[in-house]
Amino acid sequence: MIFSFTHGGRKIELDVASGVYYPREDSILLAKALMKEPVSGKILDLGCGCGFLSVLLTSRGEVTAADIDSAAVKNTKHNAEKLGLKIRVVQSNLFSNIPESFDYIVFNPPYLPVAGEDKIWSGGSTGREVISKFASQCQSHLKDLGKVFLVFSSLTGEKEVLELFKDMDCEIVARKKIPWEELLVLKATKRPKLIYEE
Ligand SMILES: C[S@@+](CC[C@H](N)C(=O)[O-])C[C@H]1O[C@@H](n2cnc3c(N)ncnc32)[C@H](O)[C@@H]1O
Repeated sequence: MIFSFTHGGRKIELDVASGVYYPREDSILLAKALMKEPVSGKILDLGCGCGFLSVLLTSRGEVTAADIDSAAVKNTKHNAEKLGLKIRVVQSNLFSNIPESFDYIVFNPPYLPVAGEDKIWSGGSTGREVISKFASQCQSHLKDLGKVFLVFSSLTGEKEVLELFKDMDCEIVARKKIPWEELLVLKATKRPKLIYEE
């Protein structure tokens, strides 16, 4: 399937392979929130799917795209090559193959509270299984004042998700009501280490 969008006055067409997430309202809400921010530097697009956010973010900085799913990795590599864009693409379960730190990490994770094996949708029975692991690992992969942009649903639990990121400075920067749920974009900033001098 083809997913097309306009960016910088240019129409861009992405191929979306079978079984790979076709960008939807959540992807678009996150994309719009990111385009309003001064995103720059080293950027990680975690759970890249077909590479929609990675492609957009190449206009802002040096992009690494990662996904647990080999089909998504192949799909993002294909779209980057087709568009002549430089994107480093790695297969990784969260940060398992990503040792370095970033200025920005963007993630449209599986957040729906449905138990099951579908890694695209299923965030386990609470919807927060992947988000919770991500929250406990992300600060080790962020530079000081580095930022996470994460999209999730009211079905995932707004208060509960904010609690997972309580060690960071959090703000909800976008909301959109869709049938049955509201989508939200969290911006979480890593606090710098305090250095005391005598
Ligand atoms: C909802 S899709 C988002 C795709 C794309 N970023 C977008 O916004 O259109 C979630 C993606 O996260 C990936 N994913 C799920 N669990 C993951 C994990 N533990 N580590 C890395 N990627 C993961 C899935 O394979 C899927 O491609």
